[in-house]
Amino acid sequence: MSKRFYLTTAIDYVNGSPHLGHAYEKVVADVMARARRSRGEAVFFLTGLDEHGQKVQQAAQERGQSPKSYCDELAVQWRDFVARLGISNDEFVRTTEPRHQRVVQALLSRLHAGDHFYKAEYRGFYSVKEETFLTEKDRNPDGTWHPQWGEVTELVEENWYFRLGRHQAWLLEHIETHPDFIQPETRRNEVLGFLRTQPLADLCISRPAARLSWGIPLPFDPAYVTYVWFDALVNYFSIPAALGDPGTAGLLGPEFQAPTGGPEAWPPDVHLIGKDILKFHAVYWPVMLKVLGAPLPATLLAHGWWQKDGAKLSKSTGNVVDPLAVIAEWGLDAFRYYVVRELDIGPDGNWTDDGFRARYNAELANGLGNLVNRSVSMLRKYRGGVVPAVSQDLAPEAAATVRDTTAALDHHGLQEALVLVWGLVNRANQYVDQTRPFTLAKDPAQAARLDEVLYNLVEVCRILAVLLWPFMPDTAGRIFAQLRLEGAPDRLALAAWGGLAPGHTIGDPVPLFPRKDLAKS
Ligand code: ME8
Ligand code: MG
Repeated sequence: MSKRFYLTTAIDYVNGSPHLGHAYEKVVADVMARARRSRGEAVFFLTGLDEHGQKVQQAAQERGQSPKSYCDELAVQWRDFVARLGISNDEFVRTTEPRHQRVVQALLSRLHAGDHFYKAEYRGFYSVKEETFLTEKDRNPDGTWHPQWGEVTELVEENWYFRLGRHQAWLLEHIETHPDFIQPETRRNEVLGFLRTQPLADLCISRPAARLSWGIPLPFDPAYVTYVWFDALVNYFSIPAALGDPGTAGLLGPEFQAPTGGPEAWPPDVHLIGKDILKFHAVYWPVMLKVLGAPLPATLLAHGWWQKDGAKLSKSTGNVVDPLAVIAEWGLDAFRYYVVRELDIGPDGNWTDDGFRARYNAELANGLGNLVNRSVSMLRKYRGGVVPAVSQDLAPEAAATVRDTTAALDHHGLQEALVLVWGLVNRANQYVDQTRPFTLAKDPAQAARLDEVLYNLVEVCRILAVLLWPFMPDTAGRIFAQLRLEGAPDRLALAAWGGLAPGHTIGDPVPLFPRKDLAKS
């Protein structure tokens, strides 16, 4: 076996319900995972939940529940959300699971034994909401604190610190010498700018259990639990380690017991995250791994944030998009298509209901849906559904699309890949207009030409199914079903021209994207 392509999403805070931002990140990761599998690569795709910390403890308290039962309840909803998005994750992590907690404690013990931690007193202002100590820099000129910090209280506390500061030089060099480590470029420059100009402070990695009990106890000082980020980041390592990934073997010391024969996943190929949590991943995480002696992830891929109608998503103002409601009305694949087609990985995006409807009608119903519908219908009508001899009219364009989308996906150009696929959709629709098969059908002398045209159309539909499978697995499968093909369009190798065998009989047309009346909705 060779190493799997290891891909992760951020793990979501379990307080609150899933929203568009969470759905987007999971769909993007899922497209990446499926695209790799389609190319024959073995993938390990991990997503899950971040369940510890002050915010969760508070949310549970407000509901009069224990944190554990609160998390168990919400985890059901979150898992269901992942399933309803059609996400093909291999594992789902909850940070309250023993398999994760054991690894976090083993890692804390290793780092403690290696003198990477020290205990010190700290006096300062603390934001409960963001679970972070603030400095004078965070204060407004008039002495007040920005609302983003929520309630700010003054604390004097002894805590444990991670000697992060001493790692600045190599970390900077690592980022400078590994241009792919932080993507896109603008985000990389942000981190470089920060590391070049500001001294890296040591990191407080504990919270007194007296104040925050909902966390993983420090194995060497049980009066403390570990800082939620020190716990959460480890999920990327804990799951492969707990499963017995050979790439993690031995790193936690001889006391750590793991099965053998786990997935060969470590190190991660892509950590997909939102722009707001880049610093944790670009600074804390590589240093934690470095001192553990673990190989570092290849790429941190930071996506932008969605707004709706130009304003921040917010439950309190009601400015939200409920992905499940959109899916109920328009179908899962329309949702998956829109979020990936609308927003490239990097910049911020803006959801508008009008924009969604416009893409649905133009690109899905009139573009892809119409092409498949008329191609299947015409072959049924003019040739009883029997595939004619192979013809090559659109073969060069199809091959170029396969090649170019593969290249786009190699550099995480998911939006670009969809634009390229729609280039082929539009070309095929234009081919219908140019060749006029309905006119050819009226003239018996044109029978051979009609055969050619019909072959090109159904064969393009088949290839489109293969290209679209990572993005819209259900639609791709439905195209295959209409062509009465066995199996799923889940291997890119199937996209070679000429796959539809002459003499094969296809099925009946079924509309993929029912047209919706724009005026009505
Ligand atoms: O940050 N648009 O969890 P989280 C796009 N538990 N993405 C968004 C978004 C939006 N409007 N809002 C949030 C956490 N996200 C931690 C992560 S990882 C070891 C721990 C993204 O539930 C956000 O950027 O607040 C992050 O990547 C993910 O959703 C989870 O956010
Ligand atoms: Mg957040």
